Amino acid sequence: MTSAGALPVLELTGIDKSFSGNQVLRDVQLRLYPGEIHSLMGQNGAGKSTLIKVLTGVLESNGGQMVMQGQSIRPDSPLAAQKLGISTVYQEVNLCPNLSVAENVFAGRYPRCGMSQGYRIDWAAVHRRARELLARIGLDIDVTQLLSSYPVAVQQLVAIARALGVESKVLILDEPTSSLDEDEVQKLFAVLRRLRGEGLAILFVSHFLNQVYAISDRITVLRNGSWVGEWMASALEPQALISAMLGREFAAQAARSAQQREGVEDAVVLLDAQGLGQAGRLQPVDLRVHAGEVLGLAGLLGAGRTELARLLFGLDTADRGKLQIDGQTVQFSNPADAVQHGIALCPEERKTDGIVAELSVRENIALALQARLGLRKFLSLAEQTTLAEHFVKTLGIKTASIETPIGLLSGGNQQKAVIARWLATDPRLLILDEPTRGIDVAAKQEIMEEILRLARGGMAVLFISSEMSEVVRVSDRIAVLRDRSKAGELPGGSTEDEVYEMIAAGHA
Ligand SMILES: Nc1ncnc2c1ncn2[C@@H]1O[C@H](COP(=O)(O)OP(=O)(O)OP(=O)(O)O)[C@@H](O)[C@H]1O
Ligand SMILES: [Mg+2]
Repeated sequence: MTSAGALPVLELTGIDKSFSGNQVLRDVQLRLYPGEIHSLMGQNGAGKSTLIKVLTGVLESNGGQMVMQGQSIRPDSPLAAQKLGISTVYQEVNLCPNLSVAENVFAGRYPRCGMSQGYRIDWAAVHRRARELLARIGLDIDVTQLLSSYPVAVQQLVAIARALGVESKVLILDEPTSSLDEDEVQKLFAVLRRLRGEGLAILFVSHFLNQVYAISDRITVLRNGSWVGEWMASALEPQALISAMLGREFAAQAARSAQQREGVEDAVVLLDAQGLGQAGRLQPVDLRVHAGEVLGLAGLLGAGRTELARLLFGLDTADRGKLQIDGQTVQFSNPADAVQHGIALCPEERKTDGIVAELSVRENIALALQARLGLRKFLSLAEQTTLAEHFVKTLGIKTASIETPIGLLSGGNQQKAVIARWLATDPRLLILDEPTRGIDVAAKQEIMEEILRLARGGMAVLFISSEMSEVVRVSDRIAVLRDRSKAGELPGGSTEDEVYEMIAAGHA
């Protein structure tokens, strides 16, 4: 499908970008060809989002050229870029949850009625056109409803529909699939392939290697702000790709033999949920978590994993069944109750539930521990510093300093800091909801190793991930959810197919 010999529709050369003296892009190049899907790869903090922001006019580069269809361009705003035919879905989706779906699709560029009607917004047209645009990506929802009434996955698709709303030659997607399930990813890919067929040049960023290989014609790799190379995807083995990203040979680690850790069955029952549920959200679920075990929670998006996590953390209140911690029945009416019992939840949505963008990396990491200590004791600056430095080191958080506002870190590094925050509370049970979303392959490995190390020290982990390969690799036991109820349990060492079989069994 690639257009050998074709000229790039957009070519960037010699791009430099610094933030107050810190150079994050150095002589970077990128060529986007019509009718091609091009993946931009690199570790967290490599400069992918920054390059995208330069090319879409969000940031001004400190040097370099951009040529589009033979013309030198210099978009100074996303709107200017859009007018040139460059449409973008940014990593952090900036939609308005309290506006309707249709308003989000058209915000700032509503179809208007003619002169005689005084340029009023033509709502019937807005709704019809929004429906048409969403239909283009296979989404059939009520466009008059608030965006916030839909799951993140749907919101993400709306963001893509919004980007597609203009006549574009180049479509840029910065980690569009991180909150989509397998089905939705396939839907999105079908749309991308159709757009490629229409001659669009598509730039795609994802940390999921299988997705990158499924969709890409061409791959560019950045490392530490520098250009490493450009390859046809078919000519670059995954091992070679990872080595290019890391700048060193990558030895594929042997599968984590979680199931080889012994004695988990005899371990103390830390948490025991019996018929725990909530009307309309989760059917009664039985679940036991032992000290020192990693319990995987598998299921498709919408299976009820997040709902269960929220009940266990007191974010929602169960209206049936009972919950015991250390054999004592407890009732959580808010997260503070759960935290007092040593439970921590690292939430799924980094931006809304996670980071406080204006606060420093240090303050963000110290936040949950300080909340747990309450008014009894205030963490001194020195204590906070030690804590933050420890986690910056163990999780490899890429930041200029622990005093940097966390909002300035790359997406994946913000995610690592949120994990650090909850690890810092030294929980007895850590609930991780999609912890490695947006985290690069090497960092994923580091984080999982840190989590397994803590589990060996006695901490229990409830691990939720859409990446089935990750769930089966790290879990001592897997509880499978389907349609908001528990389908069953599988022992550690089960295969991905066995989990999928259990999920599918209910639909047979
Ligand atoms: N506004 C800013 N001010 C200062 N530094 C910044 C700013 N934006 C980004 N950076 C820094 O630039 C570097 C590159 O960040 P960028 O967001 O481009 O990485 P990325 O490759 O997209 O990573 P990820 O995979 O985690 O999303 C990071 O070290 C980040 O901290
Ligand atoms: Mg990024």
